[in-house]
Amino acid sequence: MIRFLTAGESHGKAFVTIVEGFPSNLPISSDYIDFHLKRRQGGYGRSNRMKIESDAVQILSGIRLGKTLGSPISFLIENKDWVNWKDVMSIVKPTDSIKKITIPRPGHADLVGVSKYNFDDIRNSIERSSARETAARVAAGSVARKFLEHFGIQIGSYVESIGGIYSYKDHFNELLQNKTSSVKTGWEISVKADKSVVRVLDKTQEKKIINKIISIKKSGDTVGGNFIAIATGVPVGLGSFMQFDRRLDADIAFHLMSINAVKGVEMGNGFESANQFGSQVHDEITINGKSFSRKTNHSGGIEGGISNGLPILIRAAMKPISTLAKPLNSIDLSSMKKVASRYERSDFTAVPSCAVVAESMLAWVIAKHFLIKFGGDSLEEIRDNFNSFTKKSFNRIRKGFKK
Ligand SMILES: Cc1cc2nc3c(=O)[nH]c(=O)nc-3n(C[C@H](O)[C@H](O)[C@H](O)COP(=O)(O)O)c2cc1C
Repeated sequence: MIRFLTAGESHGKAFVTIVEGFPSNLPISSDYIDFHLKRRQGGYGRSNRMKIESDAVQILSGIRLGKTLGSPISFLIENKDWVNWKDVMSIVKPTDSIKKITIPRPGHADLVGVSKYNFDDIRNSIERSSARETAARVAAGSVARKFLEHFGIQIGSYVESIGGIYSYKDHFNELLQNKTSSVKTGWEISVKADKSVVRVLDKTQEKKIINKIISIKKSGDTVGGNFIAIATGVPVGLGSFMQFDRRLDADIAFHLMSINAVKGVEMGNGFESANQFGSQVHDEITINGKSFSRKTNHSGGIEGGISNGLPILIRAAMKPISTLAKPLNSIDLSSMKKVASRYERSDFTAVPSCAVVAESMLAWVIAKHFLIKFGGDSLEEIRDNFNSFTKKSFNRIRKGFKK
């Protein structure tokens, strides 16, 4: 079973990620991870913090001569902004007093964090709840993604809407119909999206979305949006219906919902299916040479908690950023009086970046279930297990059911 942990505060010295459970002999480089870290930092609507940071991993362990050893892999990502926060983030109590933050922002972790951990400074909540931590997750997800690439599994994402303005809304429907011929793999989708500063597939809508972000920024507000995450080349058989917590769809939902500000996740045609007839929703089974397929992919590639070999299709919703320049009402915890919430440097929207983080989380879950099914200690052993299953499974069914 693979697992990872992250440590670090938003304005602390650095983030650390420890990844455990990957096999030996997986080729991986810091350039590969840095490439995905850079993708997470992009997107129109982010704060100036992203101009200060240029995320890069230092690999501390687990990789020798370009390949994994099978031992725990650890990464360090420096926070360049830390030099400006040394006093505020000091490990030891400095002699000069630090100004406490006393006004919680609605929709953020500020008040709940203070209530739960008995802090007397909201800074203690802000630092760890910040989505800067998602850089450390992208480092972990990049190992998973690299591993999956060896088995032809590709992960991608794109932004479907920001602030209510949609771009190429039909694309997801085309994927659900299983007939998108223009875009073949998850990664091809991401390559196309990465060409847009808001990571949309239809460039004609890009300008409208940018203008929307500019106008909300001027009005002191923020916006959220929807994004699509997709995994192609996923083999049949990941996940299980044998126990609730082994279901692939449930695990994907958990991992995506764990991303800051993600408030909804649907598999395939999810919410829409509730208003449709069974005959419109369920994907008819076909046979395609030596494998089964489905005419459509409304299920989003998962049936009964198990991958069915079709692309895994997910739509997720990110709420608007909680830090507003035109503040909402709050309470000053030092006076207990009603006041306007406080503002600190913040993104206006981060949907493009959130979609990249979602790619990492999706890669992680799929790698996890892949290793549960085909696991071994070296990449070669896993490849044998994988080849044996995928080559033989269709014939086993055919033989078993033969009259
Ligand atoms: C990539 C990314 C960047 C974010 N940037 C900010 C930000 O600059 N300011 C902010 O207030 N919230 C930001 N958020 C959202 C907060 O982290 C999130 O709203 C907060 O943790 C509370 O949301 P929750 O209730 O979902 O945890 C960002 C989220 C993501 C995924």
